Amino acid sequence: MSLRDRLAAQIAAGGPISVAQFMSACLHDPDFGYYATRPAIGEAGDFITAPMVSQMFGELLGVWAAASWELMGQPDEVRLVEMGPGDGTLMGDILKTLRHAPGALDAADVWLVETSAPLRALQADRLGERVQWAQSLTEVPDGVPLILIANELLDCLPARQFVRTAVGWAEQVVGLDADGELAFGLASTPAAGLLPDAAPGQVFEQSPAQAALGAEVGARIAADGGAALLIDYGRAEPGFGDTLQALRRHEKVDPLDRPGEADLTVHADFPAVMAAARAVGASAAFLTQGEFLARMGIGQRAEALVAAAPNRTGVIGRQLTRLIATDEMGELFKVCAIHSPDWTPPAFEDAE
Ligand SMILES: C[S@@+](CC[C@H](N)C(=O)[O-])C[C@H]1O[C@@H](n2cnc3c(N)ncnc32)[C@H](O)[C@@H]1O
Repeated sequence: MSLRDRLAAQIAAGGPISVAQFMSACLHDPDFGYYATRPAIGEAGDFITAPMVSQMFGELLGVWAAASWELMGQPDEVRLVEMGPGDGTLMGDILKTLRHAPGALDAADVWLVETSAPLRALQADRLGERVQWAQSLTEVPDGVPLILIANELLDCLPARQFVRTAVGWAEQVVGLDADGELAFGLASTPAAGLLPDAAPGQVFEQSPAQAALGAEVGARIAADGGAALLIDYGRAEPGFGDTLQALRRHEKVDPLDRPGEADLTVHADFPAVMAAARAVGASAAFLTQGEFLARMGIGQRAEALVAAAPNRTGVIGRQLTRLIATDEMGELFKVCAIHSPDWTPPAFEDAE
């Protein structure tokens, strides 16, 4: 039995499933889900992320965390939380940087929110005793200010897709074709009246799970204080487009091909995430990744690394370009801050 066979049997018995249900199964099915079965991050895996491009990414997030702690008035205790920490590289670089800010490091009670057992094992190898794990943010104790970071988590939360046909909106679903293979199809939807006006052919994505994360983080921060950074590729304005993507061995593949064996993502819907956070009393703003990293001093950090190791000038230059150039990760990736209305986190002074 494979996940494809199990999904085909489920669809044959109960009818087509939504794209969100398909994503959940592919990513999190306890027996066959991508994250449940394989930690496939890194050069040898299916995709690489910013912390793996360069140590500078995590170092600057560490500087941001320390400066946020200062701006909050140096609380005796903060909950330093990373959601979706992958192989632990990012938290490793953050903690290494916080050694230069001992007050912030001492105050930090460090938690990783991770659903994947194989990735938890990698994180434990890398980070050891300093961290604790939770299955969801709800499990992380509240009552003290929060400093939360999540890089490329929003994009793996499930989304529904709607397609505007000549006669109105329909939901994109995963069903079976005449040969019994998984195939996309359309189903009528009660949500039709709630969706925006659009030309036939347009695709509209909606991720209740992304909005729920914005609301959960926002509510926590509205109650306890603090700030969060949600970093991802995604849209800055509400809009249309089919962004469902499957990556295997760094190549785009058909999302329906070998379910559970590829990383499946959609773009982060930052307008929806920020609206959900604001609705529960937090403030929210975003910058492009390039702008955020420039404001945090990535240029100076790159110069310092080059000065310390001139033979790595070319490598460090390429890493810098990858992270901040507008035609690489600098523009498509956004850094969304959700924060207490009482103060503005570093780099976001004039952001909206
Ligand atoms: C694309 S990886 C990003 C890894 C890491 N943040 C980085 O930048 O390298 C997504 C991470 O989110 C985790 N994850 C996926 N869904 C999750 C959920 N609902 N709650 C918590 N973690 C989740 C995955 O197991 C993985 O660690």
